[in-house]
Amino acid sequence: MMRYPNLEDIELIDIPKISDPDGRGNLSVIEKELLPFPIKRVYYLYDVPSDSSRGGHAHLELQQFLVALSGSFDVVLDNGVDKRIITLNRPNKGLIIPNGIWRELESFSAGAVCLSLVSDVYKEEDYIREYDAFLSFKRGQSNP
Ligand code: TYD
Repeated sequence: MMRYPNLEDIELIDIPKISDPDGRGNLSVIEKELLPFPIKRVYYLYDVPSDSSRGGHAHLELQQFLVALSGSFDVVLDNGVDKRIITLNRPNKGLIIPNGIWRELESFSAGAVCLSLVSDVYKEEDYIREYDAFLSFKRGQSNP
């Protein structure tokens, strides 16, 4: 049984965009049907120095939807075997990160804002914060 999420299956998804016919800019809407999980919490990262990284953990259960509301940043996804980097730089594109994926957010542009819609309230016990523990966890998952 395949237990490692395939990083190739993780794609940017389009957030509906309503362009104003009179040139007053764009409006994007996230309704619950867009996401594969009910939203329980919303938070956002901002004022992140360009040489800092965020994330550096995986979640046991929590699923996440990230949007670069402003500016850009890179998301490094890691399933314990492979890594993939996805750049978020448009407010009408979002990235769903399934549970069981190690993620690092880095290379934040000046003024970048990362919106995060997530499937659960904050629970420290849902985090795997040590990379070695993450690898052990993934190896355990792949065993019959
Ligand atoms: P963390 O999830 O480690 O942030 P990041 O992955 O972006 O680096 O959280 C950083 C700190 O903020 C940590 O002490 C926990 C706290 N925190 C909350 O109290 N509530 C929350 O909803 C979140 C996301 C973090």
